[in-house]
Amino acid sequence: MRTPRRSTAPLAFVVTAGPTREFIDPVRFLSNPSTGRMGFEVARAAASRGHRVALVAGPVSLKTPKGVARVDVVSARDMLAAVLSRLDDLGRGPVRVVFVATAAVADWRPAECAAVKLKKGAMRPVLKLVRNPDILKTVAERRAAEGAAPLLVGFAAETGDPVAEALRKCREKNLAMVVANDVTEPGAGFGTPTNRAALVRRDGSVRRLPLMSKAALARRIVRECEDLCS
Ligand code: PMT
Repeated sequence: MRTPRRSTAPLAFVVTAGPTREFIDPVRFLSNPSTGRMGFEVARAAASRGHRVALVAGPVSLKTPKGVARVDVVSARDMLAAVLSRLDDLGRGPVRVVFVATAAVADWRPAECAAVKLKKGAMRPVLKLVRNPDILKTVAERRAAEGAAPLLVGFAAETGDPVAEALRKCREKNLAMVVANDVTEPGAGFGTPTNRAALVRRDGSVRRLPLMSKAALARRIVRECEDLCS
């Protein structure tokens, strides 16, 4: 299949991928089943179309796509710091920046992380949690305050029809687009080679896509970003 020609000048992409880990002690953590596959495909698709790409990856076991600059992180707070630093670097240049948040970031972390492995008997059955930063929201607010404007694309992992929630997130966080997927649907969501998503734009337009490979969906997302930047 021929790849459509790019309609924009090269862009600079910052992409998050994979899960985060929030440690309870050196051998136990809270996390989720994200493998990073969706985000790595977005990074690969953007690089293959000649865009500059920085990939901020949680703990995953995937090879770095060709032409992609990767930084590995563990926790949500690490991921936020790496994203802000990449956006600062890329935002200094003349090129339009696109931030695509595919990562499944843990919303909560243990209030404390023990320095040594907790003995079973020393552990309490109730874990005290504190909120993690919302990376996408932080970027949206910071950029709004600074006047610079990267294009912001979020994902919405929902159980059930994700479109209404995606539209709410799109407007609440001032995103250009949300890629909404129902993570309980067969062949979609965490760990699968395929996904089924709806592309929801802030103006309320919704494009429901069929089940396709994550690589094909990623190419579609990158082309939508080019379209939104043109
Ligand atoms: O990695 P795979 O195995 O290929 O799986 C792909 C996927 C299911 C992880 C992916 O398709 C997906 O849905 N990613 C978003 C997962 C998610 O955490 O969604 P959410 O609805 O909880 O978050 C909404 C958006 O806010 C997301 O863009 C997320 O990256 C971002 N977020 C969430 C929490 C947080 N603290 N900071 C964030 O930036």
